[in-house]
Amino acid sequence: MIRKPIFAANWKMNKGPSETEDFARSFLSKVQNRTFPCDIVIAPPFVSLSKAAEILGNVSSIALAAQNCSQFDSGAYTGEISAMMLKEFFVHYVILGHSERRAIYGETDEVINAKVRKARELNLRPIFCIGETLEERNEGKLEKVLRTQVSEGLKGLSERDLLDTVIAYEPVWAIGTGVTATADQAQEAHAFVRSLVAEQFGADPAAKIRIQYGGSVKPNNAAELMACPDIDGALIGGASLEPQSFLDIIQNGA
Ligand code: G3H
Repeated sequence: MIRKPIFAANWKMNKGPSETEDFARSFLSKVQNRTFPCDIVIAPPFVSLSKAAEILGNVSSIALAAQNCSQFDSGAYTGEISAMMLKEFFVHYVILGHSERRAIYGETDEVINAKVRKARELNLRPIFCIGETLEERNEGKLEKVLRTQVSEGLKGLSERDLLDTVIAYEPVWAIGTGVTATADQAQEAHAFVRSLVAEQFGADPAAKIRIQYGGSVKPNNAAELMACPDIDGALIGGASLEPQSFLDIIQNGA
């Protein structure tokens, strides 16, 4: 089964429009007129999407993502951004269920599932994040946590919607810590997540869905992680903030 790898830059709360412009122009100069054997996605903060779209919106090798969206269409939801609004910014993907949204903003599996379904209704591609804390791993709860997150988060999706979704496995203890999961740990978790998708949706979609790894991915560990059979790209935080570093990860890993 050939799955096209996908490398996504999650800038989190970094880079307003002017820094986004600097990154986008620099990155563009490095990638234009080149083809890549992978999808490249950049997720700036909401307020920088317009600037990113202005510079990168027509570059076929790069897609834009948002870092969140509302589960609602419109109305009295102060501070929220709807999936429909994102469509106006050439956004094709949306990161949902990131552990920071779960832990800091209290997003539940139910809320995340509503967001995933809303995104698909608007034809956005969810990058659906899952992963265990160190405490959960140490208590032997890894499989239980992943099983709940996958079954609840992807509940009710059609096979078509599932295949337009990317799963990002991000062990929380590896995010922003410089401690990457070993290739064996990551592969084991990815294979387990794929088996969960097979249980829920069948073997064929499970073989086709892309599962990214996230958590302290850097240029020097990308190749080893991406060589694992069930790892189909990366969701990158800190190391995606600098154009050459993001490009090095793509080149070393794809
Ligand atoms: O969304 C990205 C992940 O949270 C990974 O962040 O590469 O800074 O560890 P990191």
